Amino acid sequence: MEVMSNKNLWLAFSRMEQLLYKTIEVTFIQGKGAYLFDDKGNKYFDGFSTLWTNLVGHGRPEIIEAMTKQLQELSFMHLFTGSQHIPAQKLSEKLIQKNPFNHSRVFFGCAGSDATETAIKLARNYWFSKGMPGKNIIVGRTSTYHGTSMGALSLMGHESYQEPFGPLVDGVHQLPATDYNAFEKYFNEVDAKKNVAAILIEPIITSDGLILPPEGYWKQIQELCRKHDVLILSDEVSTGMGRSGDFYASEMYGLKPDVVYLAKSLTSGYAPLSALMTTEEIYRTINSKGKYFMHGSTFSGHPVSCVAALKVLEIIEKENLVERGKQLASALSTVLNKYLKDLEIVKTINGKGLLYEIELKCTDEKEAELGMTVYKELLNEGQYIRAIGKFLCIAPPLISTEEELVKMAQAIGRVLSKLSNQKGLWR
Ligand SMILES: Cc1ncc(COP(=O)(O)O)c(C=O)c1O
Repeated sequence: MEVMSNKNLWLAFSRMEQLLYKTIEVTFIQGKGAYLFDDKGNKYFDGFSTLWTNLVGHGRPEIIEAMTKQLQELSFMHLFTGSQHIPAQKLSEKLIQKNPFNHSRVFFGCAGSDATETAIKLARNYWFSKGMPGKNIIVGRTSTYHGTSMGALSLMGHESYQEPFGPLVDGVHQLPATDYNAFEKYFNEVDAKKNVAAILIEPIITSDGLILPPEGYWKQIQELCRKHDVLILSDEVSTGMGRSGDFYASEMYGLKPDVVYLAKSLTSGYAPLSALMTTEEIYRTINSKGKYFMHGSTFSGHPVSCVAALKVLEIIEKENLVERGKQLASALSTVLNKYLKDLEIVKTINGKGLLYEIELKCTDEKEAELGMTVYKELLNEGQYIRAIGKFLCIAPPLISTEEELVKMAQAIGRVLSKLSNQKGLWR
């Protein structure tokens, strides 16, 4: 096996100069079902679904065959200025069939970040088309993550991610994530009916520990938004496709967003794609009086990606994976609590469905080193799990078995109990 050099590759969100990064020598070369393999023949359980994507398993022949067939027939066609292709037509139909929010239109993109941009622009365009260009403020929430493009970055709730890139985009505002009163106060202060276009939400926050909404919170926020004619844009990039229990987390909380979007597991990671869905009313308002949505990018709704998504949706239905996810979720909760809850280093275990996060006790200065140490030790245990600072992200594929979840939790338990004894590392 050829071992590649790593001298030219610049990894995303990676502390390239940190010694621990330099000494991680795992290069993945193969994926099969719920497992990944490296260039030295080691096998890893994909306990983080390869950055929340791998829903139905790596290397599935039926997906690969469908994608190959599409490549042979029509390797690419864009969706600009009236051009279209069959996979985008079929996928939009399928997504609308599965949409519980009375949406009728699908706009494709390439990734979560660009779906966020599309959602922001769509909301502003809607009010502009209604003759209210001043109703353009987009409200975000602290602790959320919506991607790295400038609009998404400006609306996310992590100052450290934003700091080097200022100035951020104008006309956005952050509110505390789970505080309904802050929303009510702000909406009254700024006269939301006149000035706020939309709120951008993650129904469950997944990138600052896992933050679940307080009881009744989303219903209250939804009522407030309806009262002030503020659109709800629901980012289901991490939570959608059955990952958090129902097909959509919004549905689980009684939300009826005006816009919802999927990415990541939409193709189970086989190809880049995002899909944003919205109402006929928004679609018609923007496409009126000779005007239209001046937005899109070359590879949005790539035919090969659409074919992959169609197959993934077919597999989810055929194998009843949303139901299976629910069963696995209860097993996951049991094993994580059984093997990890009482360890000294563990602060909290939070989750919903197959989406969990474990917060470790740690001082700010030690966070980066602790995360990398945990990641490395877990790789040695044959577990591919994301450790980002003090957070361990757990998101096994929906095709996992209960036995695999037990083994994963036991392995994490071994690593964390070892680290519990190395107090210098975390406190
Ligand atoms: C909730 C959420 N929104 C948006 C994004 C951005 O997606 P992408 O990395 O595909 O641009 C992510 C990625 O982690 C996410 O978790």
